[in-house]
Amino acid sequence: MMSQQAHIPVLLEEVLSLLDTQREGVYLDCTIGLGGHSSEILRRSKNAQVIGFDIDEKALMKTKENLKPFADRVTLYHSDFRYIPELKIDFSSIRGILLDLGLSSFQLDDAQRGFSYQKKGPLDMRMDLRNKTTAAKIINKSSENKLAQIFREYGELRQAKILAKEIYSRRKKEEINTTSQLLKITEEICRWRPQKGKTHPAARVFQALRIEVNQELKDLDAFLEKIVKLTPKNTRTAVISFHSLEDRIIKQTMKKLASSKQERPFITILTKKPVTPAKKEIEANFRARSAKLRVSRNI
Ligand SMILES: C[S@@+](CC[C@H](N)C(=O)[O-])C[C@H]1O[C@@H](n2cnc3c(N)ncnc32)[C@H](O)[C@@H]1O
Repeated sequence: MMSQQAHIPVLLEEVLSLLDTQREGVYLDCTIGLGGHSSEILRRSKNAQVIGFDIDEKALMKTKENLKPFADRVTLYHSDFRYIPELKIDFSSIRGILLDLGLSSFQLDDAQRGFSYQKKGPLDMRMDLRNKTTAAKIINKSSENKLAQIFREYGELRQAKILAKEIYSRRKKEEINTTSQLLKITEEICRWRPQKGKTHPAARVFQALRIEVNQELKDLDAFLEKIVKLTPKNTRTAVISFHSLEDRIIKQTMKKLASSKQERPFITILTKKPVTPAKKEIEANFRARSAKLRVSRNI
């Protein structure tokens, strides 16, 4: 049986090839997770160094262990990647930048983190435990309209409005603090029969809440613009996203940075269409099914 804490890096070969990680220099892994991509960069290229970031301290402790064989070529920071442009890093040595957005299996599989509707636990969903806002707080304190907006925009849930209404009315009688309570309400409101290729409505509800708790879409565009402008010519930037809104932000920001309508074009886009996992990868790793990879090169 696969270890509970295993996380299979998504689109690994495509990332390494498009980032051209054989080149000597520093690679910024902005969402290092358990170090799946980074360990392969370090293993395959003896002249590569990695600076890794993650907002999840628990994951970072595990990563430190996983990357022990390469300890002299790795630096880890417990930080939101959105702060990278303000850090004292020698940006001129950067060759590649990787963002593998979203959640790792390590986080999803831990019932106590509350990310999964399939596991009984508290409605927490914070990637960064320093964050004061939990999913329970959002569910119990947000207005009915705000809840509907979260479910509609981030979850693309058809029943967003009636689910928000139901949550609003039930929480007056009893606080909703567990994954099981939220799953039960969702299943009652969004009638659903298992069908091949159909996502359980609770997956949408939980994903939407997670995006709101962690403010996952915030300043993604600003970060991408800043980091591209801080790094030298030929630096490659690879972004894997798992959500259509996320992918749209990446696509539009890369388009803007590649356009000559601005000051000047800063990048050339290496992936005319997003790279998606082959059938074989999806069969081996279901989490990969919605991944989209876009890569650019600084000019
Ligand atoms: C999909 S996982 C990365 C997995 C990694 N590529 C691997 O192969 O092991 C995404 C990671 O990004 C982290 N993360 C999400 N948002 C972040 C942010 N704004 N700043 C830093 N890390 C973030 C999460 O905590 C999670 O560990």
